[in-house]
Amino acid sequence: MPPTNGSPMIDVKNLTKWYGPVLAVDDISFHVDRGQIVGFLGPNGAGKSTTLRILTSFLPATGGKATVAGFDVLAESMEVRRRIGYMPESVPLYGEMRVREYLTYRAALREIPRRERRAAVDRVAQRCWLSEPEDMMRRRLDQLSRGYKQRVGLADVLLHNPPVLILDEPTIGLDPAQIRAMRDLITGLAAEHTVILSSHILAEVEQTCSHLIIIAGGRIVAAGTSGELRQRVIGPNRIITEMKGAEPNVLAADVGGLDSVGDVQVQRAGNWTRLMIAANDDSDPRSAIFQLAAKKDYTIRELRREVASLEDFFVQITYEQNTQTTDQSA
Ligand SMILES: Nc1ncnc2c1ncn2[C@@H]1O[C@H](COP(=O)(O)OP(=O)(O)OP(=O)(O)O)[C@@H](O)[C@H]1O
Ligand SMILES: [Mg+2]
Repeated sequence: MPPTNGSPMIDVKNLTKWYGPVLAVDDISFHVDRGQIVGFLGPNGAGKSTTLRILTSFLPATGGKATVAGFDVLAESMEVRRRIGYMPESVPLYGEMRVREYLTYRAALREIPRRERRAAVDRVAQRCWLSEPEDMMRRRLDQLSRGYKQRVGLADVLLHNPPVLILDEPTIGLDPAQIRAMRDLITGLAAEHTVILSSHILAEVEQTCSHLIIIAGGRIVAAGTSGELRQRVIGPNRIITEMKGAEPNVLAADVGGLDSVGDVQVQRAGNWTRLMIAANDDSDPRSAIFQLAAKKDYTIRELRREVASLEDFFVQITYEQNTQTTDQSA
C-alpha cells in the first residue's frame, strides 16, 4: 500500500533476526517519519547492519514486519529498492573504472534513461563535491583516497534521487575534515530525503541526527532526540552561574527564591560566588536569573547550562546491556 501523508516513512515492528543460533536482532520496533535523520547507534555486533540490511530487502527477517514508504520489505522488495539508496558498510567499487564511468554505469543499472544519465551524474557529483578538483571525475576508483571513495559511494546512492537513504557507517575511516564534510553533506540531504544512518560515535550522530536510536545486543536500549536522552542522563537542567554584589548566602537565597529554581549550592570563587542550580522540571531559569541580577545590581560573569555527557550515558547503557547478555549466557 502506498503511504498516506502522515504515516511513517519507515515502520519496523517486532523485528527479529536469527543467524542460525545467533540472535542478532531481538524484537525491535521503531519508526522514522518523513524528513527525519535518524542515527542508529551501538557498539560492534549490536545488530545495526543486520537491521539496515533487512530494511533494504537484502536480508529476510526471521520474524516481525518492516515497511518502507508503505511497502513491505519482504513481499514488495522491488518497490522498496526503488525508493531506497543503500550505502553498505564497505562500498564495493570497481577499481579499474573512472569516477564518471562508474557513476554512469550505475545510472544505467538504476534504469535512468540514457539521455538523462549525464545530467544525473553531474548533479550527484556536484552534490558530493566530486566536481573538484577538475580531474576528479576522470580518476581511477582504486587511486582515490578513502574519503573520496565514500563520496563516490554516496553519489551512487543519490543517482536515482530516492526518498529514503540508508547509510551504514558513512563516516567510517574518514579523517576529521572529511567527517565534517560528510556530516554537512548528510545534513543537507534532510530537506529532500528521509535518512537513517549507523555509527559507533555518539558525538557524530548527535550533530547530524534529529533522533537517536541506541541499540545493544540486538535490542533498543534508548531512543529519542539527543535532548530527551540527555534529560534522562542528568535529569532536569543544571545551571552554573558566577556573580557578585552581595554575600554568597544572600545571592543563593535570591536565586533560590525564583519559581523556576529548585536546589542551589554555593561555592566561593575568589571575590565571586559560584552557584550550582538545579532547575524545576524542564524549565530554564537563565533569563530569570539574569533579570534578578539586573534588578538587584548584581554582576554576572558566567551563566550557562551544564551539558551532560551523552557519551557517559551511552557507555553506561550499552555496558549494562552487555553485562545482562553475558549473565544470561552464563
Ligand atoms: N552473516 C552472518 N552470519 C552469522 N552471524 C552474523 C552474520 N552477520 C552478522 N552476524 C552476527 O550478528 C550480530 C549483529 O551483527 P551486525 O553486523 O548487525 O552488527 P553491527 O551493529 O553492524 O556491528 P558493527 O558495529 O561491528 O558493524 C553479531 O553478533 C554478528 O556476529
Ligand atoms: Mg555494522
